[in-house]
Amino acid sequence: MTVLTRRRLLKTAAIAGAGGAGLSVMGRFGGWAAARPEPVVLRTAKTQAKLMDVGQTRDVLSYGDAGMPPVLRMKKGEPFAARLVNAIDDPTTIHWHGIRVPNKMDGVPFLVQPYVYTGDHFDYAFTPPDAGTFWYHPHCNTLTQMGHGLTGVIVVENPGDPQFDAEMVINLRDWRLGDDGQFIDQFRPRDAARTGTYGTVRTANWLDQPQYDAPAGGLVRLRVAITDVTRIYAFLVDGAEATVMALDGNPVPQRFAPDALLLGPGQRMELAIRMPDDEGAIVGLRDVRGTKPKVLATLRAVGSSLKRAIRDVAPLEVNPVAEVDLASAQHISLALSATAENVPSDGICGSLGYSFWAINKVPWPGDTPDPTAPLAELKLGRSYVIDMENLTPQSHPMHLHGMSFKVLSSSTRQVQPLISDTYLIQPNEKVSLGFVADNPGDWLLHCHIIEHQKSGMTSYVRVV
Ligand code: C2O
Ligand code: CU
Repeated sequence: MTVLTRRRLLKTAAIAGAGGAGLSVMGRFGGWAAARPEPVVLRTAKTQAKLMDVGQTRDVLSYGDAGMPPVLRMKKGEPFAARLVNAIDDPTTIHWHGIRVPNKMDGVPFLVQPYVYTGDHFDYAFTPPDAGTFWYHPHCNTLTQMGHGLTGVIVVENPGDPQFDAEMVINLRDWRLGDDGQFIDQFRPRDAARTGTYGTVRTANWLDQPQYDAPAGGLVRLRVAITDVTRIYAFLVDGAEATVMALDGNPVPQRFAPDALLLGPGQRMELAIRMPDDEGAIVGLRDVRGTKPKVLATLRAVGSSLKRAIRDVAPLEVNPVAEVDLASAQHISLALSATAENVPSDGICGSLGYSFWAINKVPWPGDTPDPTAPLAELKLGRSYVIDMENLTPQSHPMHLHGMSFKVLSSSTRQVQPLISDTYLIQPNEKVSLGFVADNPGDWLLHCHIIEHQKSGMTSYVRVV
């Protein structure tokens, strides 16, 4: 993995390719002004990738010619533009997960934009209001398209960010491959009705346990995104002091060490890691959930110690998210449950043909050209609190498009007042999420375990 110097980093425009997923030197850059941005071209492509020792996996999907989808770099408060060119055999769109974009740019087919058919393109343009780690993915036929590779990480930089000696981006995901290295069925109905179907091969940046070099005694900003369609992780760092600085694109009010930190599909974390002083020392990012813990990626200390201290990492700037007014807030009750109904539904755009799940007892059809009524109609500018209850034995990473919420309280644990777009609700938990309905349009609210989303656990709110 090459180390990008500051000068070279300035030259890597808005887009950093697979190489940019590794190490780069952070700093306060000059020249943030960019009047009209050159659109980044994101061309969907069918490709091959070496995901197993047995050889190349065929029918892998990506944006660009080779390797995993590029890490996109944007700047807080500066216009960004991308042209999606669809070169695969299936309609698609792009959703900018966690970024508070105008409704027309949100990438949900039928609800806010038409399909982008094979050979067509669509121009996205928006100004990200918040700095942090986000990601992008299709919002159409998602189980297949995301399952085959279309998940990429977004870094929104802030000129006021603290300085680090290195930065790394890690895109975590699985693949459903057979012994021959080729794709097998993307899901099993009996698993979709439970935790979701797990992949068989686990990767970080499309690699098995990659190792990256980082300066000994230096401070590393590690950005981790879970872009898998199913897997929930419990994160631990060993071999170095590490602290969680941000979750889901927003700084945490109080930093803490990742001690089996549970995060689900769609969620992101930013760690500050103080590398060991000794050259060659190894730091591991682990998943300790379940019966098969795994080292996901490692960092190797190189050079002589920079002798930095983790307490020197300045706080991240808080994002400009409107403060919910609890006194005037209206409450919206939301019950997540399983449903007995098991008849094939005819949603399109990747419905699984089953309904296993429900929100307020309704198994939602999901993406459909014939939109059903919204779950709730919200008044622009008003405060709301979603009181969400999980009546199922599974955890659900519930994601709201278009607006960020604040975690107010939980019935089962002490919570920090985090600002987020995805909350991993546990079995038997009740949680209150407060937000200001300040972004007009139709916004999805769904479970990010894609099989759950596609079999009933999805709906939307309308802000007018
Ligand atoms: Cu990450 Cu509705 O999506
Ligand atoms: Cu779910």
